[in-house]
Amino acid sequence: MTSTDAIEFLRARRSIRKFSNDPLPAGLLREILETATFAPSAHGLQPWRFAQVESNSARSALGQALTNQMRLDMQAENIPETDILSRVERSLRRIAEAPQIILLCRDTEAVRIPTSEEDLMGIQSVAMAGLQLMLAAQAHGLGANWICWPLYAQAETSHALQLPPTWQPQGMIFLGRPAEQPKPKNLKPLQVLSLNF
Ligand SMILES: Cc1cc2nc3c(=O)[nH]c(=O)nc-3n(C[C@H](O)[C@H](O)[C@H](O)COP(=O)(O)O)c2cc1C
Repeated sequence: MTSTDAIEFLRARRSIRKFSNDPLPAGLLREILETATFAPSAHGLQPWRFAQVESNSARSALGQALTNQMRLDMQAENIPETDILSRVERSLRRIAEAPQIILLCRDTEAVRIPTSEEDLMGIQSVAMAGLQLMLAAQAHGLGANWICWPLYAQAETSHALQLPPTWQPQGMIFLGRPAEQPKPKNLKPLQVLSLNF
């Protein structure tokens, strides 16, 4: 791969939200997750943990945990009940239909000294692994989408999925063969200061 190919590859990454039903080859997800673990992490602590949400019952538990909280948050914002229902149904459908779901977690015990800065660096490190995961998926022709919903229901998600107590959900990634071509990206202008004083 030339540097031009590599740059083109990086610039081609897009969020994919529609997937075909094609099953992924055995072992591919494991390879993608292993590649994610090559991401940089603060102090090299590698605080990322992954939960593969596979069975219908695990998906349903996740969906209920996330949409219960979603419903409460939307009710608190006085959003009309019909809008809440359609949002909840859409979310449950996406969780049921995603070919693969990886819940990205931070191990809260991976930090050396639990300060707010160290916690933040742990979260940043998990995000690094998340991007690397999505790029590894792209290298295999898969599409991926980072979903933030677990952040709004961390305790409920942990409880519903019976996660180890130190695994703190940060987000989830839906993965599968792409069944959509995203519209061209509307990039904001690059903002960079050249400081030469
Ligand atoms: C931290 C984070 C949270 C996100 N949460 C969601 C989400 O909940 N649902 C969703 O459809 N996309 C989500 N996305 C994807 C963004 O919407 C997407 O990256 C953005 O619109 C730019 O599009 P692109 O990824 O195709 O470049 C999230 C992305 C990030 C980095």
